Amino acid sequence: MKIPTSSLLLAALCLGAALPGRAAEPAATLTLRADQPGPVINRNLYGQFAEHLGTCIYGGIWVGPESTIPNTRGIRNDVIAALKQLHVPVVRWPGGCFADEYHWKDGIGPREQRPAMINTHWGGVVENNGFGTHEFLDFCSLIGSEAYVCVNVGSGTVKEAMEWVEYMTSDANSPMANLRRANGRAEPWKVKFVAVGNESWGCGGNMRPEYYADEFRRYNTFIKDYPGNTLYRVAGGSNGEDYEWTEALMANAGKYMDGLSLHYYTLATGDWKTKGSATDFDETLWFATLQRTLHLNDLLVRHSAIMDKYDPKKRVGLVVDEWGTWYDPTPGSNPGFLQQQNTMRDAIVAGLNLHLFQNHADRVTMANIAQMINVLQAMILTDKEKIVLTPTYHVFEMFNVHQDATAVPVQLSSPDYVLGTEKIPAVSAAASRNQAGKVHLSLVNTNPNDAITVNCTLAGLTAKTVTGRVLTAPTMQAHNTFAAPETVKPQAFSGAKLDGANLTIALPAKSVVVLTLE
Ligand code: AHR
Repeated sequence: MKIPTSSLLLAALCLGAALPGRAAEPAATLTLRADQPGPVINRNLYGQFAEHLGTCIYGGIWVGPESTIPNTRGIRNDVIAALKQLHVPVVRWPGGCFADEYHWKDGIGPREQRPAMINTHWGGVVENNGFGTHEFLDFCSLIGSEAYVCVNVGSGTVKEAMEWVEYMTSDANSPMANLRRANGRAEPWKVKFVAVGNESWGCGGNMRPEYYADEFRRYNTFIKDYPGNTLYRVAGGSNGEDYEWTEALMANAGKYMDGLSLHYYTLATGDWKTKGSATDFDETLWFATLQRTLHLNDLLVRHSAIMDKYDPKKRVGLVVDEWGTWYDPTPGSNPGFLQQQNTMRDAIVAGLNLHLFQNHADRVTMANIAQMINVLQAMILTDKEKIVLTPTYHVFEMFNVHQDATAVPVQLSSPDYVLGTEKIPAVSAAASRNQAGKVHLSLVNTNPNDAITVNCTLAGLTAKTVTGRVLTAPTMQAHNTFAAPETVKPQAFSGAKLDGANLTIALPAKSVVVLTLE
């Protein structure tokens, strides 16, 4: 009897056997070491960044109380609802480069009386200061997030920074606390995180590291902890590979700081002049984007090693308070607004970066994706009353199960994703156990062409069921638009099979998967 070739093919695929002339589906091996201790995953690794840039604040978050767009005290209700799903732990504000030209007293009091200014960094637009300290802290409380405020070092004064902290956090019968009361807020706010300037090596003042280290020490002396509020003080850190900056800051100011920042953007092309399109790219640029994302691992290792020299007990946290993809702006948009679409490629970048932060959780205490809405690698895009959630949003929502859970160490052996002469690991993974005892395993497949079988062994863990969700799409360039908002969204995942201590996962090409083991 002649067996049809298609039946042979099907049988071979089902059995996982190699067909003549064709390589077997690549496989990864993974051991979940639930029998070994791991650090608690700081929820602040899932932080966000909202700058006065383009339509991040105005239009994205703030529409004003008079708007026909449904809002709570001027803040969009649809945005509040979407962000609540992410459990955003912390929001960095007001910049970015904007922070070093922001004068906070211009942003308090009756809105119609607030002075305007020019936002010189971002499109030269006129900033009316309608969204200031009260509005930002209201926004944080509406979405249940901590505040991370960056004070102005570049064009501000120590007095200004000192008074801002007093205004926000003091309950004394003091000038700034009384000014706050006069502006309608009786109780002080809790403000946990303060950064002293932004990118002081560049837009924040073009300083030398030794000079900035002294500035940090001076500002840090005068921004006070008022009763009931203890600040976590973040010094402005390095730009990517600038290890000299980290060395100088740790040597000269390490003992005064709680955190040291690091900024690293993924450029698909590696060229700031021609960064490439967010949506129109080929596999070469897909690969390069992911390879450049994974370069962050080297940065974390090398900056941490320098910090270890001065701070072997790891008291000072590494705060990656700007990260994400940066492409050429959407054609037709204001180039100063840094507006870009967000595809399946960005979802993979988000998954890889979040895994890197988790895998360095002993040193990295916070990370803030740039940026929250309508700017760079955004969670949300808006256009007047319209709103769309990006693939990156969905990764943050799927991964939020790791927040505050205890990391479960993973041992992973991954096949390579090879393109030409270059290769990167195809699979990235991280796991955690939450307080209810559920174990979550997140996986990323960087390979846009091949599914990968992950053969996983559970060590020190007995699970009865496995369930999960997957984010994937037919093309690398797939993205959500206002007209088609659900092109890329999480789906139920049935590709994981549990057999005693063995878990087999059929990880689709270009996918992000999160599993729950109970
Ligand atoms: O996120 C956009 C800009 O990138 C920030 O304002 C600045 O800090 C960085 O250079």
